[in-house]
Amino acid sequence: MRLPVGRGPASAMLVEALSGVPGRLSFDAVEGWRTDESVDVAAIGDEDLQLFLFVCYELHYRGWDGVDERWEWEPSLLAVRAVAEHRFESALRRVVGPVPAVEADDVPSTLGTLVADDDGPSIAAELHRRGDLERFREFVAQRSVYHLKEADPHSWGIPRLDGPAKAALVEIQMDEYGRGQLPRMHAELFRDTMRWLGLDTGYHAYVDSVPAVTLAANNLISLFGLHRRWRGALLGHLAAFEMTSSLPNRRYGDALRRLGGPPEATRFYDEHVVADAVHEQIAAYDLCGSFAAAEPARAADVLFGAACCLTLDRLVAEHVLTSWAQQRSSLRLPIALGH
Ligand SMILES: [Fe+2]
Ligand SMILES: [Fe+2]
Repeated sequence: MRLPVGRGPASAMLVEALSGVPGRLSFDAVEGWRTDESVDVAAIGDEDLQLFLFVCYELHYRGWDGVDERWEWEPSLLAVRAVAEHRFESALRRVVGPVPAVEADDVPSTLGTLVADDDGPSIAAELHRRGDLERFREFVAQRSVYHLKEADPHSWGIPRLDGPAKAALVEIQMDEYGRGQLPRMHAELFRDTMRWLGLDTGYHAYVDSVPAVTLAANNLISLFGLHRRWRGALLGHLAAFEMTSSLPNRRYGDALRRLGGPPEATRFYDEHVVADAVHEQIAAYDLCGSFAAAEPARAADVLFGAACCLTLDRLVAEHVLTSWAQQRSSLRLPIALGH
């Protein structure tokens, strides 16, 4: 994966520094983030901030071409990243608002209420109603940033859990990874969809193309996954993700069939209709319910994570649907086709 192109002073400084040997990263480019306390929802759509975080986090996944792997744990990079994370976290708290205290026993039903009350706009409904191949391709390019590493960010939770919650997370993740069979791994099924659409199936081929809000939705899971203190939020995020998956995936699959997609192209979506109907139960009860029972002080974090997931999904959908309503692309750059 090539390092992305910087989108502002901080991300440009980072990309340039990563091309050299690991050494002290300067705070200069993030000074504005450190001193400005007026954080609001705009930080979620801040191209410079979100790309900065995305580039930092990717060092913990597959890394970047030509970047010395020792950068992953370079203390000065982690210190500068903490400034960016503080800004992102403050924006999340601002946009999500206070999460009510909850008894551990009530976590599964409260998650259900949160999801049921979510009335954000639906990309699935729009694609189902009148999406053409160009819009579908664009949507898949947006989602590829997550789906080509599907399940990886939530896997950071496994070593941080114990007992029934750990078993539940592993049960979900086993399906995501195709129970160890490469052709059944969800990321590979997604590659099949991309291939049929003629898209570039390279890991992170579309990072330069997607806007800040899409990067933010990905950074959110990495933030929760990489910090043990956010383990409750990570599980809540996964629960909200699974609980809002089955119906949209049915619509995506049907939309793609209407556009001529053969079974290998729609399989990713068809698989999720079935799998996530099961996963949502496991996630709410066996995973989050068990976790809250074991760590009641973290029950509110579970709801915070779920609320963040729903909020970022809504912001992404608003961005995409507003762009389409104005007859323009939701991407920053035109799509490069792979074939
Ligand atoms: Fe999946
Ligand atoms: Fe799932």
